[in-house]
Formats: sequence, C-alpha cells, structure tokens
Amino acid sequence: MKIALIGYGKMGHEIEKIAVQRGHTVVSIIDVNNREDFESEAFGSADVAIEFSTPASALDNYRKCFAAGVPVVAGTTGWLDHMDEVKEACTKGGQTFFYASNYSLGVNIFFVLNKYLAKIMNNYSDYDVKMEEIHHIHKLDAPSGTAITLAEGIIENVDRKDGWHLETEESDSDIAIRSIREGEVPGIHEIIYESEADTISIKHDAKSRKGFALGAVVAAEFTKGKKGFLGMNDMLNF
Ligand SMILES: NC(=O)c1ccc[n+]([C@@H]2O[C@H](COP(=O)([O-])OP(=O)(O)OC[C@H]3O[C@@H](n4cnc5c(N)ncnc54)[C@H](O)[C@@H]3O)[C@@H](O)[C@H]2O)c1
Repeated sequence: MKIALIGYGKMGHEIEKIAVQRGHTVVSIIDVNNREDFESEAFGSADVAIEFSTPASALDNYRKCFAAGVPVVAGTTGWLDHMDEVKEACTKGGQTFFYASNYSLGVNIFFVLNKYLAKIMNNYSDYDVKMEEIHHIHKLDAPSGTAITLAEGIIENVDRKDGWHLETEESDSDIAIRSIREGEVPGIHEIIYESEADTISIKHDAKSRKGFALGAVVAAEFTKGKKGFLGMNDMLNF
C-alpha cells in the first residue's frame, strides 16, 4: 500500500524502515519545512498517512489530512483536548482516523492486565494506587499518553479513584503519576498498589521504538479501506 509519513523524527524514521520491510511504498514525507506537500498529488495518493509529530502541530496535520481525504493513523500524544473535533470529523464528516496512545502490542496487553488487576483491587481498599512513567529527556508532554490511558483503565474499575494528577500536585482521590525524564529511555510504565503489608506492581518496559513503529504500520494496514474512528481494541480484538 501507499503510505505518507507526517513527522520525520525518531518515530518517522523507524516507521519508514518497517513500512518498506513490509513491502509498502512511502509516497510522501512531510516535516516542518515542506508542509505545502499536504496539497501535493503524491500525498493525496496515499492510502493512509501515519502521523508522529509534536503535540502543538498534530491537530493541524489531522485537519490537512481530512482536507485531502487521506485516512490518518495518529501516534502523537499531548493533543487530546481536541479529540472531540477529530471524532466529529469521523462521525459527521466521513473521515477515517485511528488513534492509539501506544501502538506496541506488549503495551496493549499491559492495558488489559491493568484493567483486570484494577477490577480485583477495587475490593481491597487498604491498597492505594500510584503510577511511575519514565521517558527520554526529549519528550514534550507529561504524563505520557500511555500513562493517561493506564490511569483511565484504573478509574473505570476502582471506585475510590476518580481522576489522576502529577505527583507534584496535591490530591487524595486521584491517582498520583510520577513522570521522570532521563537519558534515552524509550518508555517504562509501572502501576503500584501499596498497603501497609505489601506492594503489588506491574510494569512494562519498552526495549526500543521498534514495537511502536511495527504497531503503527500494522494499524495502517488495518485502516486501509475502513471508515470512522478506530483504535487498538478494533484491531486487536482481545
Ligand atoms: N502512540 C505511540 O505508540 C507513540 C510512540 C512513541 C512516540 N509517540 C509520540 O509521537 C510523537 C513523536 O515522537 P518522536 O519520538 O518521533 O519525536 P521527534 O521529536 O523525534 O519527531 C517529531 C518530528 O515532528 C516534526 N514536526 C514538528 N512540527 C511539525 C509540523 N508542523 N508538521 C510536520 N512535522 C512536524 C519535527 O520536525 C520532528 O521531525 C510524540 O508526541 C511522542 O510522544 C507515540
């Protein structure tokens, strides 16, 4: 299939490698200096655009894809305040948009495990829950999009929790998230339940960006020819 890449940074390069390995053609690569290419014939010919750019530029890139009628597989995090507009473009405007806060298969298994553990822990109020996420120093948003998805999975299932906050802020009923930025860490997420008696924790540790990039290309293959708002649950069918 024909793939367009938007954002040619660490993820864009990794995705290009995997897309080519899987027999796809990259027909257009758009970064900050050639945004006029959104109007090009090559971009318009793409079956799917895969977008990994920055929180500040993501929404405008999605609008440009919609204008060109090119389905989007979106990986950028930190823009979710605008999710309603994107969903409306799909439901009312006939656009196609796939979003995952994390494209790695392992993390999506971890999401399911997190919800299952939260369901069990709902009955054990002696345990408080907190989260720690560690990423490389270049990451612009905190907490990570993955940490927010994990927090939502806990809030859905643990009645005594109704929100999340960064560890630096004060709150009792919320889940405290500690966001650490160090070195070139691709991404570590740990959920920690703690009582006076003991600690139970589950952890996902990404070894590289390969897992995210492969998941994004597989999501593009899944998205081709589909309509509407899509996500990992539609694709993985756990
Ligand atoms: N969903 C996931 O699985 C997942 C995995 C890894 C990273 N991410 C997210 O993906 C995003 C990109 O990550 P990265 O590590 O590749 O970052 P990066 O900084 O290496 O690359 C971002 C690229 O976007 C480009 N860019 C900036 N403004 C742009 C614009 N207006 N139009 C087009 N391109 C523009 C930059 O020049 C740069 O090349 C981040 O938000 C990160 O959190 C998501």
